[in-house]
Amino acid sequence: MLRYANLQIIMLNVAVYFLLVLAVDCTVPSKRFIVEVDLPELLQRLDGLTSTVNDLNHPPVAFKAHLTSPISPGANQRIIFDDVQLNTGNAYHRHLGGFLAPLNGTYLFSVSVCSDNGHYIVLDLMKNAGLIGRVLAGDSVYNDCSSDTSIVELNAGDEVYVQHHASSGDYVNAHQNILNSFTGVLLQIL
Ligand SMILES: *[C@@H]1O[C@H](CO)[C@@H](O)[C@H](O)[C@H]1NC(C)=O
Repeated sequence: MLRYANLQIIMLNVAVYFLLVLAVDCTVPSKRFIVEVDLPELLQRLDGLTSTVNDLNHPPVAFKAHLTSPISPGANQRIIFDDVQLNTGNAYHRHLGGFLAPLNGTYLFSVSVCSDNGHYIVLDLMKNAGLIGRVLAGDSVYNDCSSDTSIVELNAGDEVYVQHHASSGDYVNAHQNILNSFTGVLLQIL
């Protein structure tokens, strides 16, 4: 995509160069007419492509965090995924247990959670004070896991985090701390 856009910019530059040469050389009115009509449009397209390439060059933003200890969360308690495996761009804040969007953009988040047999847990994925996803894990006989993936548009400064859904359920296990996770990535800036 990036290479393709760069190639287009180079081709447009070449086209603009020839049109400029034509403009200098031009003595025939009909040729001058072509230059007057096409050059502003070409320059506008060049500006558009330059800004697309700049957007594609955004810094990478991605995180993955796990839980290291089992939790019996209180009502609406925020779940702090404390073991940060990846934090490119440093937008996941471990002390908050939350992700703060560094840029306006489209982001993807995923939350996975497990509970033990005889227990269950319901967790909400939140954007600021609003609900954007929910997971329910639990079974009377088996240990059970569940996950949810959401794609959302965020403005810079918006916060995304995971919290207990009211008092629904009572136990998040952490037998192996890779079973529970909170991940996110910036897909595209807007
Ligand atoms: C982000 O989006 C908001 C609301 O649409 C807008 O006011 C703001 O200027 C944008 N910021 C940037 C850096 O584009």
